[in-house]
Order: sequence, then C-alpha cells, then structure tokens
Amino acid sequence: MARTGMSPALRKGPANRPRRSLDQTRAIWLDAFQRVRAETEKRAALLSAEDQIVQSMADASPAKWHRAHVTWFFEQFLLVPHDPAYRIFDERFPFLFNSYYVAAGPRYARPQRGLITRPNGAEVAAYRAHVDAAVARLIAEVSTESAERVFTIVEIGLHHEQQHQEMLLTDILHAFAQNPTDPVYDAEWQAPRARLGPRGYVDVPAGVHAIGHDGDDFCFDNETPLHDELIPRVRIARHLVTNAEWLEFISASGYTTPSLWLSDGWTTAQNENWQAPGYWRQKDGAWHVMTLGGLRPVDPAAPVQHVSYYEADAFARFAGKHLPSEPEWETAARHDIIADAFGIAWQWTRSAYLPYPGYRAVEGALGEYNGKFMVSQMVLRGSSLATPEGHERVSYRNFFYPPARWQFSGLRLAEFI
Ligand SMILES: [Fe+2]
Repeated sequence: MARTGMSPALRKGPANRPRRSLDQTRAIWLDAFQRVRAETEKRAALLSAEDQIVQSMADASPAKWHRAHVTWFFEQFLLVPHDPAYRIFDERFPFLFNSYYVAAGPRYARPQRGLITRPNGAEVAAYRAHVDAAVARLIAEVSTESAERVFTIVEIGLHHEQQHQEMLLTDILHAFAQNPTDPVYDAEWQAPRARLGPRGYVDVPAGVHAIGHDGDDFCFDNETPLHDELIPRVRIARHLVTNAEWLEFISASGYTTPSLWLSDGWTTAQNENWQAPGYWRQKDGAWHVMTLGGLRPVDPAAPVQHVSYYEADAFARFAGKHLPSEPEWETAARHDIIADAFGIAWQWTRSAYLPYPGYRAVEGALGEYNGKFMVSQMVLRGSSLATPEGHERVSYRNFFYPPARWQFSGLRLAEFI
C-alpha cells in the first residue's frame, strides 16, 4: 500500500531530549527497539509458514515479506550509514525487501512478492536476529556526537515497523477471506467494544484552529507544519456508523442507487459487484463477516468496517450528511467531543491527501516516505483495532485510494448547521 507515512522531519522524541544521560537514552531506545521488534514476531507467530508466503493481491504483502522489509529498513537506513563495522546479512536481500525507495536502489516487483518462497521463514528469522544484534550493539556503542542522529533513525524505524504490524494483520485477513474454509487468525480475538453513551451530533467549535502536529514528540512529516484552518459551523457524529445503520443502507438499495454514488465509485461498485462491505457474506440467511477471529455474525451494534471511501461517501449522501474534513475531525478529537476516535476503525474524511501549507520533504531516500504519495488518495483519521499500542496520534494522517477496503476502515458523519 502507499501508506507508509514516516518522518523525514527527524523530530526529536522524548528519549532524545538532552536532560537524560546518554546511558539512560541508550537504555530507553534499546527497550523500545526490543519491544517493537517482539510485537512483530508475536503477530506473525500465529501464522504458519504457508500463511506467511501468500500474497492475495498486489496491494497486500506476505507476512514474511513484512518481517524482512522492516528489517531491511534498519539495515539500509541505520546500520549501513552509521556502523562502519556492519556487514550486510545477504547482498540479495536489499533487492527483495526494498519497498519503493528509488534512491535506495532497484527492487523486486511488488505484485510478485508472494513468489519469493526463498529465503524461507527460518532465513528471514536469522536476518532479523542478525540486524537485531547489530542495532543493539550500535545503540550501546554509538558515540556522543552521533547519538542523536542514530536514535532519531531508530525511532523512525520503529514507527515504520509499527505501520507494518498493522498491515501484517490487514493483509493476512484479506488472504484468509479468499479461503472458503474461513481460516481463523486468532480464535481468542474479540472485537473492541464501541463506547456507549449518548448518540447524535455535537458542535465542532467553529473558527480558526491550529491543525497538525505540535510539541516535540515524534510525528510523520505529513503532519507538519502546524497551520491554521477555518472550521465552519458544523456538527459531528459522536459515534461511528454502525453495522445496523449499514444494513439500512443495504435494505434501501443503497448499493444499486446510482444517484448516491460518485461516478468512479459507481463504476467500481458495479465492476466489483459490491453488495455489502468487504468480507461480508450471507450464511444461513444472515450476514456474516470475516474477522481476525474467523467468520462471525455481523454485530448490528458494532461500527462498520471494511468500507471504501466510495461507500462511505455514498452512505453519507444516503443519510443526508457529509463526511467530516480532516481539520473538522482533528478539532473535534482535540476537544474530546467524539467517541471511539481511536482503536476501532480508521475514519474516512472528505479531505484529499495533500501537503499541508509549507510542507517540504527532506533530502534523500527517506524523503520518499510521504511526499510522493500526495495525489489521488483520501485521508483517514484515528486508528484501528490493528494499530499497535503507542502508534496513534490526534494529528496522524493515514491515506488510501478511494476503492480500498481491506483496511479496518469505517466512518463517522458530519452535518453543516
Ligand atoms: Fe515500509
């Protein structure tokens, strides 16, 4: 997927601030590194070797590839430039596991990643162990002069790996959803519960508001610069749109009413025969949905998931509402007036993914991370049930192409006053 927002802005995280001793800073980064790396392996551990090589569509990548690619990222951007003693684990791997960094050299075709049965899982595990040891050594031994730069890249690598942790789950769910035996990723998996409380709409504070990342903590460069936006008189739904509301849309022939749809959306819905959200299917006369816990009945009270921008937009028109813009969403979230902003479903906004005023990508390969994707995609805000702990922010900008629906993507509505 194109979404891999990363921060070439090289902002200082809390652990880089000078009030800590260098040894304290080393300990913080080593701990963070080990925790994030372990989370990737924890997510992959529920998959068989066969599960880990499958690529169910061009936009999805095999789990084994995710595990290797995030490792290559540390090798390419941290170890090779900053550790003269480091030796590349395997000279063939950069070609296989570079994703889209043109400046970092040629790369294997993305849609064919599932053909790479070798290196096998054990070799990828060895690659990870080799890089883990080298990064731990670098953290322990980096000089005072190089420490800030090295820890900054460690931090980028960890946020990058967390993004792939989410994709590891979205991609394997897509693969499992193609399998008529309805494989279960985690039999213990439970959907996060939406917050209760009053429904309805709440006023977003109108006027000029600062939008974007503020403070010294980490952010991706696409969240900068902080800038002013004029928020109109608008109300935003406290809650996410639910499956029950989506069932009304289906019952009212929402999928077959062209006046509800953008032209591109209508064409896509027709070509792909959309009749319900992604992963929904009828079984024994009732709607079921493929989840990380396998095929389960659609819970009417749960927020809808796996809808594209086109569907979200059509639903909003059906409801006589709109999707919020990203400044409206961010202002509402900053004022804590909406429920379930985080942790269930990314929420489509009506905002195109564009640079904020004054945005500049940095020089070099890491500058490819975000800026070059700022066309033809739409922004989603919040986070999802698959987003790893510590990876969400109120200013976070996720982005996907309008037809995409294999992510945990939902929506909340807005209405102008
Ligand atoms: Fe990546």
